[in-house]
Amino acid sequence: MDRIKIIGGNRLNGVIPISGAKNAALPLMIASLLTDDTLTLDNVPHLADVEQLIRILGNHGVDYSVNGRRQHQDGAYSRTVHFTARQIVTTRAPYELVSKMRASFWVIAPLVARMGEACVSLPGGCAIGTRPVDFILQGLEALGTEINIENGYVHAKAPKGLRGAEFTFPKVTVGGTHTMLMAACLARGDTVLHNAACEPEVVNLAECLNAMGAKIKGAGTPTIYIEGVEGLSGARVKVISDRIEAGTYAMAVAMTGGDVLLKDARPDYLRSVLDTLSKTGLEIKESEEGIRVARNGLDIVPTDIETQPFPGFPTDLQAQFMGLMTRAKGVSHITETIFENRFMHVQELARLGAHISLVGQTATVEGVERLLGAQVMATDLRASVSLVIAGLAAEGETTVNRVYHLDRGFERLEEKLSNCGAQIERISG
Ligand code: EPZ
Repeated sequence: MDRIKIIGGNRLNGVIPISGAKNAALPLMIASLLTDDTLTLDNVPHLADVEQLIRILGNHGVDYSVNGRRQHQDGAYSRTVHFTARQIVTTRAPYELVSKMRASFWVIAPLVARMGEACVSLPGGCAIGTRPVDFILQGLEALGTEINIENGYVHAKAPKGLRGAEFTFPKVTVGGTHTMLMAACLARGDTVLHNAACEPEVVNLAECLNAMGAKIKGAGTPTIYIEGVEGLSGARVKVISDRIEAGTYAMAVAMTGGDVLLKDARPDYLRSVLDTLSKTGLEIKESEEGIRVARNGLDIVPTDIETQPFPGFPTDLQAQFMGLMTRAKGVSHITETIFENRFMHVQELARLGAHISLVGQTATVEGVERLLGAQVMATDLRASVSLVIAGLAAEGETTVNRVYHLDRGFERLEEKLSNCGAQIERISG
């Protein structure tokens, strides 16, 4: 199993190109199941989760082709991938495929909308909480789907097609909003979604569906209106830039010091994060090119956060922010409100010398003068990267085990960081 070795202490200086967002690419790829035409996606990141979803879609009959992996002058890569679901060969998504990635459960919505049925294994995914799918199923039921759960599989049936409805999500859910958008655009009549997720990835999906011929209004606000259409066609859509990747590297610079341009990062996707980071002492400049972040070695100011749905502070940056706060000059509090068990990084950060205590959903972080390199291991994607950025600021050598978590969501992490002066390398085997 690959490991990442880091010798901490170097400042980061230079340019980091921000990739296309994993969490936008996945639902856009799934939307290709809604049409027999070709959906072309630009700026698709090269990640293990994307490759896994390609396999899952392939099982349903989706053909794909990739237009090169062009490297641009600034070192950024971009991939264009064409997806064509000319014929759906099976509406069954087996456990072996779905259990590896939670988002693959979302295929249930386009399959029911297009084929009138689906049989999808209950999902797996990162170990960050129980993560049920009840709201997704309630939404599909509201559109007229009959749901039965047997032997770990959800059997969904709507033989006469879906019909529009008014539905209120009991809690904000990104996946619930994605699935309802995909289902409702092919339903008969109008659908209104209340308490919908406002994440930029939801807006990216709505724009993609509209480019395919759907009639969706209000995406990016809590109320979304969808007028059902008969069918959808192909389209060409760009995956938005990855706000979590950008926020992660901003925190790395906040921790190590230095000056980095996060090229193509979108400040409007990161408002609450940038406000918080500027309170910690990070200098932030927004430009056409992206976001420039710098810290000149002054103390890191302790700052409290609470995770919230967009536009609040994202749960996907909570672990990285905790890494940063381990070096703050004082005490900070970090409250997780989205997932009930997203603190697996606490004990690993402690191996590097961090002082963190956990009561319920709030971690109290007492900043320390220095972190010392150690062997660490993480159980999910964002926790893993929090250990990488802590390792960059620690003295001596840190080895991060179970690198496959990082490969799920960070494109060419070692290359991007070492181009900015970090001592980081992958050790194979
Ligand atoms: C998406 O997961 C992201 N994944 C997650 O990123 C992210 O942490 C999460 O949204 C919140 O922002 C992708 O986009 C692929 P939710 P999702 O439905 O859609 C509960 C990463 O590291 N809930 O918004 O699965 C749920 O348990 C990943 O890239 C139900 O109870 O998250 C959670 O407490 C990790 N029933 C809350 O809602 C349901 O039916 C929000 O989850 C659905 C959700």
